Amino acid sequence: MAKLNFGGVEENVVTREEFPLEKAREVLKNETVAVIGYGVQGPGQALNQRDNGINVIVGQREKSKSWDKAIRDGFVPGQTLFPIEEALQKGTIICYLLSDAAQIALWPTVKKHLTKGKALYFSHGFGVTFNEQTGIVPPADVDVFLVAPKGSGTSLRRMFLQGRGLNSSYAIYQDATGRAFERVASLGIAVGSGYLFETDFKKEVYSDLTGERGTLMGAIQGIFAAQYDVLRAKGHSPSEAFNETVEELTQSLMPLVAENGMDWMYANCSTTAQRGALDWWKKFRDATAPVFKELYESVAAGKESQRSIDSNSKPDYREKLEEELTELRESELWQTGKTVRSLRPENQPAVKKEANEPNKIASLLKKLADKPESVG
Ligand SMILES: NC(=O)c1ccc[n+]([C@@H]2O[C@H](COP(=O)([O-])OP(=O)(O)OC[C@H]3O[C@@H](n4cnc5c(N)ncnc54)[C@H](OP(=O)(O)O)[C@@H]3O)[C@@H](O)[C@H]2O)c1
Repeated sequence: MAKLNFGGVEENVVTREEFPLEKAREVLKNETVAVIGYGVQGPGQALNQRDNGINVIVGQREKSKSWDKAIRDGFVPGQTLFPIEEALQKGTIICYLLSDAAQIALWPTVKKHLTKGKALYFSHGFGVTFNEQTGIVPPADVDVFLVAPKGSGTSLRRMFLQGRGLNSSYAIYQDATGRAFERVASLGIAVGSGYLFETDFKKEVYSDLTGERGTLMGAIQGIFAAQYDVLRAKGHSPSEAFNETVEELTQSLMPLVAENGMDWMYANCSTTAQRGALDWWKKFRDATAPVFKELYESVAAGKESQRSIDSNSKPDYREKLEEELTELRESELWQTGKTVRSLRPENQPAVKKEANEPNKIASLLKKLADKPESVG
């Protein structure tokens, strides 16, 4: 396993150079990988593995949209697509990719089919870490590990098709066969990870729950709303408030930060922006740090997992969720966002039409190449 230096700290990493696809195929050649669940992660992971030459089958409850989607994606009932229990019986590696709530409900069935030497694979440490709440305690004679792609199953698939790869973490909870590492590394490569960094089940779920409640989704929406509301209260128009809060960030700055880092961004903006950002970022850090600490402690105390299990298993969960999402969707901030997005040149009908005329674009590009002095 490679050791790489991340900001001065050495970590174990599995790279494609060190663990190429051919090696993964060799390790998995006698395995049947049963992907249980065809929701968001299921399709991404199953299709990437299939395209990578792994023997993969899908287990999905019948008469559902997900079952139909699996058929549309080329899985064949009775050959590579089965009702959940049949797939559990056939699989030697069980990729447990039902929603976290459904994993609790189906656990007694899954457990029954975890015979000696099989492997149980997760994409989240939730079920095992919070086993007092979930009841998910795997038998001692199976391997238990995880590969958690750091993004949606849709991105995992999209990036795979573009020849890229999403970063994933991996962790081994139980090595019953002595082959847990080679199995998990092979699966990580086969599902389309760019590289894999090591963690454990508890750290994976603590960081994941903190991240999605924090900067990835909860905190970012909170900060957007706070700045937008202040600008609006001080008399700025919705379009000005939205552009200064969201649009410039997502359209202009974040792609550059993704490419080059925030240090580069700070070095490559106006001196006015630079002075202000340098003066203010630590104030925002200090103001939000107590909230992040409270959040992490709530995760570690099992309160967030309990809340998620309780609310997701209520029969009216979908309706209640829809009410909350409607509030967000109908807020002035995101209604303004809708208009702003529609005004982007690429969303204008005339530009869309031009983009659909490849010959015109090609001749335009040729003209520009022939006359470089006309560019810019
Ligand atoms: N979403 C992500 O981007 C992401 C990223 C990293 C890791 N993960 C992890 O990957 C795992 C799968 O997540 P996901 O987002 O892909 O899940 P999801 O889309 O919510 O999973 C839905 C799947 O669960 C099935 N299901 C739901 N309730 C069921 C029940 N009562 N009985 C049988 N099947 C049931 C659905 O079947 P029907 O269609 O028939 O309802 C569908 O196959 C989770 O552990 C999650 O934390 C997810």
